[in-house]
Amino acid sequence: MTTASPSRTVLDMITGAWRTQALHTAVRLGVPDRIAAGVGDPDAIAGQTGADPAAVRRLLRLLADLGVLERDGGAYRNTPVSELLMDRPGSLRDMCLLYGAEFYRAWEHAADVVSGGPGAPGFERAYGQPLITYLSRDEEAAARFQRAMQAGHFFFERLPEVVDFSGATVVDVAGGSGSLLAAVLDRCPDARGLLIDLDHMVPIAQTTLEEAIGAGRAEAIAGDVFESIPSGGDIYLLSRLLGDWDDAACVRLLENCRRAAPADGRILVLERVVGKGEDPELASLWDLHLLMMNGGGQRTLDQFRALAEAAGLRLERLVPLPMGNACIELRPADGGRTAP
Ligand SMILES: C[S@@+](CC[C@H](N)C(=O)[O-])C[C@H]1O[C@@H](n2cnc3c(N)ncnc32)[C@H](O)[C@@H]1O
Repeated sequence: MTTASPSRTVLDMITGAWRTQALHTAVRLGVPDRIAAGVGDPDAIAGQTGADPAAVRRLLRLLADLGVLERDGGAYRNTPVSELLMDRPGSLRDMCLLYGAEFYRAWEHAADVVSGGPGAPGFERAYGQPLITYLSRDEEAAARFQRAMQAGHFFFERLPEVVDFSGATVVDVAGGSGSLLAAVLDRCPDARGLLIDLDHMVPIAQTTLEEAIGAGRAEAIAGDVFESIPSGGDIYLLSRLLGDWDDAACVRLLENCRRAAPADGRILVLERVVGKGEDPELASLWDLHLLMMNGGGQRTLDQFRALAEAAGLRLERLVPLPMGNACIELRPADGGRTAP
C-alpha cells in the first residue's frame, strides 16, 4: 500500500470542492445517461446539451483521471461509479445534485459556523431560512431532498438481516418516505408496520409502502412525534432522526417511545456513531455536515447511552451497519408503557 505524501494529502483535500463540482456538472449535463445511450464523444455531448465542447472535453478528461469514466479512444465509457449517477431507481444522482448545490453552499459558511458569533447553521446563512422552511417552500427541492434521502439508505436492506422483526408490529417514528419500513416488511412477511411523520410526508410514505408490500400490512399516519407516539408497537425505529435534534429534544422523543413501548419492547436508533464502525471518518464527516445543515450532529456511543438513561431506557447493544451506520438497541429500563 502506498501512502500519499503530506503535501499530496493537502492537495487532495483542498481540491475536494473541485471534484464535487466536476461530478455535479457532469450529472447536470446528464453525462452518464448520454454515455449509456451511446453518446460517449465529448463533442456530441456538448452538441446535445449546448455546452462548450472544449470545456466538456476537459471535464470528461478529469473525470477519467478520477476513475469516474473510462477512456474509449477519443470517447468515454461509463464505469460502475458513473453508472451509479444515471437517472434511474437506486441511483445516487439526486445526492450528487443536492450535495453539489444546496449543501455545497451551506458548507461555504463552515468557518463562520465553527468560529461562532451570532450563530445560524451554514444553510440558514446561505439561504436566509432554515433547511426545513426552504424545503417546505420549494417543491422541486423537497422532492430532490426526499430522493437523496432515499438514495442514501445504504443500510436499509441490511437491517432485517441483523435484527429479528418476525411477527412484530414495527412503528417507524418520523419514518419519512417509508423506504426503511418497506425494506423491513418486505423481508419479514409476518411483520406489520405503522409510520408516523408530518402531514406532507404521509401520501409519499403510503405510496412507497403500497408499491413495495401491497396494501393492508402497513399504514402511514400524520402526527407530531414530539407530542406523542402511538402505542401498540413491539419495535420502534428512529432512523436518521436524533442527529437533527439537541439533547433535550432527543430525550423527549425517546421518552415518548418508552411510554408507547411494551415492557419487552425494543427501540432501535439508526445513526452514524462517532468513533465506531469500520469507517469512523464517515460519522465525523456527517457530524459536521449536520452542524452546517441545521445545527445538529452525530453522537458517540456514550452520548447515546446518556440520552437513553435520561429517558428511562437502557442501551443493550450496537450492531454496525454499512457506510458507517449503526443500529443501537434500547429497551425500557423499568417495564415501558408508563403514564406520561
Ligand atoms: C432526516 S429525515 C429521516 C426520515 C427517515 N426516518 C429516514 O431515515 O429516511 C427526518 C424526518 O423527520 C420528520 N419530522 C420532523 N419533525 C417531525 C415531527 N415533529 N413529527 C413527525 N415527523 C417529523 C421529517 O418530516 C422527516 O421525514
